[in-house]
Amino acid sequence: MKEIHDFTIIGRQQLGDQYFRLVIEHGGQMLPVAPGQFVEVLVEGSREVMLRRPISVHDVDAARGTLSLLVQIVGHGTRRLAELKEGDRLNLVYPLGHGFTTDLTPRTSALLVGGGAGIAPLLCLAKCLKAKEVQCTVLLGGRTSALIPVRDEFAPYGELCIATDDGSLGHKGLVVVHPAFAKTYDMIYTCGPTPMMKAVARSAAERGIRCEVSLENMMACGVGACLCCVTDTDQGHRCVCKEGPVFDISTMKKWYQC
Ligand SMILES: Cc1cc2nc3c(=O)[nH]c(=O)nc-3n(C[C@H](O)[C@H](O)[C@H](O)COP(=O)(O)OP(=O)(O)OC[C@H]3O[C@@H](n4cnc5c(N)ncnc54)[C@H](O)[C@@H]3O)c2cc1C
Ligand code: FES
Repeated sequence: MKEIHDFTIIGRQQLGDQYFRLVIEHGGQMLPVAPGQFVEVLVEGSREVMLRRPISVHDVDAARGTLSLLVQIVGHGTRRLAELKEGDRLNLVYPLGHGFTTDLTPRTSALLVGGGAGIAPLLCLAKCLKAKEVQCTVLLGGRTSALIPVRDEFAPYGELCIATDDGSLGHKGLVVVHPAFAKTYDMIYTCGPTPMMKAVARSAAERGIRCEVSLENMMACGVGACLCCVTDTDQGHRCVCKEGPVFDISTMKKWYQC
């Protein structure tokens, strides 16, 4: 079930030059939202942006009826969203897609690997796994420390590890060469740039570790109608918006091997 709803912006935080976070309020009973699901945001007041933009659910507080969105400014739509202020309205279609599998048993271990805006859905996931007593390691990567926003907010939910290309914070190099990545886990989740996710998936497959990737293909309708977001899987073409964005890598050999 999904709905179109006007939310009100009740919090806005600028996080360096490239990122900002919005906390938005529903004003009523919200539909349940699972980690890894996303919303399609209507960008109003921009002549360049006709289609809604997909943004992951970064955090959710069902009791207060609030959602958080962490957004990287990359183009017309996200620039326009960055201009919004507290009190402004945001029209969303939510919740969309198929989120992460979170049915792990207590005391199992999980590695969450995020890069760039792919960090966004991992906060909600880490909270959910912590509530299930899963032992989480969160490994976040970026070109430089300034491009890993909200990293400290992960600390209450597991061991926090950082990798930066320039060595400005944490381990110098890519996430897949961080010592935490080489350890064994019951499950690996990843979201971020495609080359990073493919490297994570290849390594998980080689080591026989269950792994889910959250794809960020370009989208238009967000509900499986236009086929512009399809990806090639071992089971044929799949709509990332409807059958993903989260996929188990056991069906994604074609994707991560190319
Ligand atoms: C399921 C899903 C969840 C997402 N969650 C988040 C999130 O939580 N936070 C966040 O900041 N971004 C997220 N994205 C990416 C976000 O949707 C795009 O960055 C946004 O649509 C760009 O819109 P724009 O109008 O600013 O850019 P445009 O003006 O349309 O494009 C500017 C540049 O961004 C690139 N771009 C556009 N769309 C994407 C995309 N989907 N992936 C990668 N590059 C893109 C274009 O190729 C172009 O180079 C998500 C994408 C998907 C599919
Ligand atoms: S975005 Fe239209 S089918 Fe996925």
